[in-house]
Amino acid sequence: MNRTNRTKGVLGLVAMLATGYMLIGAAPATTGTPPPGPGLDLINQRCGFCHTTASIFTNHKSRDDWAATVQQMADRGAAVTPAEMKTIVDYLAANYPAANGAGDAPSPTPGS
Ligand code: HEC
Repeated sequence: MNRTNRTKGVLGLVAMLATGYMLIGAAPATTGTPPPGPGLDLINQRCGFCHTTASIFTNHKSRDDWAATVQQMADRGAAVTPAEMKTIVDYLAANYPAANGAGDAPSPTPGS
């Protein structure tokens, strides 16, 4: 009796975890699966209320721009502490840098 109940509990937990992984894995394949890390855990916990987290990972920004974006989201109501914001910005700047890869906004190219 006891044993059966415990088995059911474990199975339920496994099912919940599997569902969670499937949801995370459901991000569009074109953007790739976000690499794991403490920043990703926080993003999944804090950043999926107003828009999908997948929409975040389609962006590429310099560290400054990511910091500005995360600050904007906090202003809008994302429940992040300053320490969590830093973890999130570190993660996004490392994994989704600006297209030139230099981590800085590209300087405007002169017209001619
Ligand atoms: C309270 C609601 C809310 C939460 C929570 C939230 N956002 Fe947003 N986010 C928005 C809205 C509204 C927009 C679209 C408006 C816009 O583009 O400025 C947006 C747009 C974005 C964009 C695309 C526009 C841009 O400036 O690049 C990114 C990236 C983004 N959010 C990242 C995040 C991250 C990272 C978090 C977690 C720290 C987060 N959001 C949490 C409301 C939210």
